[in-house]
Amino acid sequence: METTVHEEMIAMPRIGDRAPEFKAITTQGEINFPSDYKGSWVILFSHPADFTPVCTSEFMTFASMESKFAEANCKLVGLSVDGLYSHIAWLRTIQEKIEYKGMKNMEVKFPLIEDISMNVAKKYGMIQPNEATTKAVRAVFFIDPIGVIRALVYYPLSLGRNFDELYRVVLALKTADEFSVATPADWRPGDNVIMSPAGSCAKAKDRMDGKEADLECEDWFFCTKKLDKELILNKVLKRDAILN
Ligand code: BEZ
Repeated sequence: METTVHEEMIAMPRIGDRAPEFKAITTQGEINFPSDYKGSWVILFSHPADFTPVCTSEFMTFASMESKFAEANCKLVGLSVDGLYSHIAWLRTIQEKIEYKGMKNMEVKFPLIEDISMNVAKKYGMIQPNEATTKAVRAVFFIDPIGVIRALVYYPLSLGRNFDELYRVVLALKTADEFSVATPADWRPGDNVIMSPAGSCAKAKDRMDGKEADLECEDWFFCTKKLDKELILNKVLKRDAILN
């Protein structure tokens, strides 16, 4: 079978970029992004289409976890290239009719952007024409309280996202900021965190000689330390100071 290769150049925001600005109509009224979210973390995510099953399962899951994200000072904003009335009808159907994995009567309280023009989707590289020209892929942008993109994830249409992982990403980003550490593979609060590598030969020697008593070093460049789970949760699950 022949496939068409779309070579259209699309701006893809990158980690460390400022989140592109836009004004949009949503199911919760008009928003100015990201300025309305200053002082909060925000997850901006796209889904391919309203009234589709994978998207429905995702929205129910996200809605069920909204208070958990709110506790981490993280707001949710959805987007698809459908219109406002489709969004409203779909969210009403989800609440009134759909039961999935024990979730029912799920009210989606976070805003869902209408983007028929695809202006926002294109700014965020959510339209990936070799996957679909008329639907957004499953993109997720993690944006910090000063409006900088800190992580991003793209999934294809057929693959529903793991929302526990999205929550883990928020906690890991906040922990890295708060404690100036990095987080290893599959890290969860309570697991050891990674220290920045020794920056001099003397420091490397000190570490290998056990002079930094709180570190556990596999080698001079690979040192971890315990970071108390309660300490992390107390820090990252409170509201960030409003940044000016
Ligand atoms: C879905 O959400 O079920 C879906 C949407 C677009 C393409 C394939 C699946």
